[in-house]
Amino acid sequence: MRRKLFMSGVLVACTATIPQWASAYEAGDLIVRMGAATVAPREDSSALSIAGVGAIAGSGAGVDDNTQLGITLTYMLNRNWGLGLLAATPFEHDVDADTGALGLGRVDAASIKHLPPSLTLQYHPLPDNRRFQPYIGAGINYTTFFSESVDSELEAVLGNGDLEMDDSWGLALEMGIDVALDDRWTLNAAIWYLDIDTEATFEFDSGVVLDADVDVDPLVYAVNLAYRF
Ligand code: NI
Repeated sequence: MRRKLFMSGVLVACTATIPQWASAYEAGDLIVRMGAATVAPREDSSALSIAGVGAIAGSGAGVDDNTQLGITLTYMLNRNWGLGLLAATPFEHDVDADTGALGLGRVDAASIKHLPPSLTLQYHPLPDNRRFQPYIGAGINYTTFFSESVDSELEAVLGNGDLEMDDSWGLALEMGIDVALDDRWTLNAAIWYLDIDTEATFEFDSGVVLDADVDVDPLVYAVNLAYRF
């Protein structure tokens, strides 16, 4: 109930301060959005496999969530179509490994950083002057992993090691909405699905080589303040 009251309060405040209409987006408009972007991986991986031995039953790898400063741009080609770019400061994730039949339980396996720039073609179905501008987009994601480092918890078991994660090219889908504050400033909420598939390879000084195919396939959520140039 309190929450409902709060929400209607916010709605009333918004209705009171936001003008009813903002002018339509036009060809050449550049909308720059900055805010918090969270990458939430789906945690789906193949079993860990030991080179020369085979897959470890019941094992797998997982990746936790991370939030960074997100920067997204839309460049309008005309009133309906725009080019979208998703960029951010590097995301940093902990990777854990379920050791399955090895019987060590779940261990901290590594930390990684990645950048997932995505380019999309966006469609804005409501080209007229209005307060709400929803859009959908589809395009391509490129993800590069770096600063991979093996966790001491795993190294305690298998000796010093290195981790290598392959770069990924895949589909990017997005959905978002701009809510005009005035003719230049807008609030924005957006969500992306990124198809990020990589192969993680651990190489230990002990000679053990472990690898797994990891479908990171995250949802990325962002809440932004935006300015139209
Ligand atoms: Ni995938």
